[in-house]
Amino acid sequence: MLNGKKIVLGVTGGIAAYKCVDLASRLRKKGAEVHVILTRGAQNFVTETAMREISGNPVITSMWGEIHNYDVEHIALATLADVVLIAPATANVLAKAAAGIADDMLTTTVLATRAPIFFAPAMNSNMYENPVTQRNITTLQQRGWQLIPPASGHLACGTSGIGRMPEPSELVEVLENYFAGEGGSVESADGNTMDSTMGNTMQGLKLLVTAAGTREPIDPVRYIGNRSSGKMGYAIAEAAARLGAEVTLISGPSALQPPAGVEFFGVESAREMRQLVQERFPACDIVIKAAAVADYRVKNVSDQKIKKNDAELTLVLEKNPDILKELGEMKQPHQTLVGFAAETQNLLQYAKGKLEKKNLDMIVANDVSKPQAGFNVDTNLIKLLKRDGSIEELPLMSKKELAYIILDRVMKLRM
Ligand code: PMT
Repeated sequence: MLNGKKIVLGVTGGIAAYKCVDLASRLRKKGAEVHVILTRGAQNFVTETAMREISGNPVITSMWGEIHNYDVEHIALATLADVVLIAPATANVLAKAAAGIADDMLTTTVLATRAPIFFAPAMNSNMYENPVTQRNITTLQQRGWQLIPPASGHLACGTSGIGRMPEPSELVEVLENYFAGEGGSVESADGNTMDSTMGNTMQGLKLLVTAAGTREPIDPVRYIGNRSSGKMGYAIAEAAARLGAEVTLISGPSALQPPAGVEFFGVESAREMRQLVQERFPACDIVIKAAAVADYRVKNVSDQKIKKNDAELTLVLEKNPDILKELGEMKQPHQTLVGFAAETQNLLQYAKGKLEKKNLDMIVANDVSKPQAGFNVDTNLIKLLKRDGSIEELPLMSKKELAYIILDRVMKLRM
């Protein structure tokens, strides 16, 4: 997976920098072309000579040093990268990247590149858990950059807790998984092979995807939710980004990491989701609503935790706005609107009703009563209903594969 890939490895000034000799060596053994940037801090832990010998390429240590090769250095590294990996990423580099500061070669590359960026933070656990660092991480993730979570264990400062950089073998695996997904090819039900490397077929298109379930508060500690994990919507967002689309993912709470290269917004309730979706809708070419939005919310949300007593408790629910239906009313001719229908009975009848009532171009109907389909599983069983009355039935497949098929059908609708 890494053979021939150009990896810019940014090393910053944390004790875990020593692991980068091993990391660069492993990447190179896998056939990757490794270009190392050492920050000033990193040079206290690892030498330019060691990294040059291991990577087989000149190492960049300063913006102002002697230039070895104009084709490779300075902004050229940002252009050449298939991926940028910053490991270890100190709290300082996370803060600079979040703020858009470009005061050394690494942060300049971060700002200038269009390649996916992976950060592997490593630091003392108090620093990692500090709300400022967490806010910076959220900002980076919202830009579609990836965080490789630190591990817990004994830290160099003598304490234990979260903040250890994952082992080099694990970082290599993260990149392998990234490129494996990018290079995967998918056999569709009609025999077409859709290869995500076949080109940037969605280049120039703005796509909005919603994913996961909303949470409607009951009181400060309780909510009404559903079983959506976000897997279906995240798979679509990831596939679209790999096909070259400019993707925004608006998600209810989910344990998943936002995919690389995707603008990300996390929301809780249906009304928060509605606000963000409506703000972005006019600029979008395609909207795919895979989120499981709560149809109802609690009418009188309690300010305080509701105390238990012997009486029954009745919650009065009021209707949430139907976000998709509102989009159907606002839709312009150049926009393609795709909804999902999660049903446990009368799948085709109910899905067709939603297609028409919400003015959709296509609806993805999934019978969520079937095993291995619907909520919180890696596979799905779907039927695609279009406005011309056609129905395409697909076999049980992984959500990642189905994502490419759904996008392929969306692109055919737009032809
Ligand atoms: O997240 P996973 O665990 O991978 O599960 C995937 C999934 C089962 C959640 C997904 O495949 C799916 O079916 N998503 C839609 C679930 C749903 O809410 O279906 P619905 O039939 O209730 O809604 C129809 C459509 O209207 C959906 O596109 C929904 O996003 C939208 N809707 C619904 C209610 C509402 N108030 N606003 C909406 O926009």
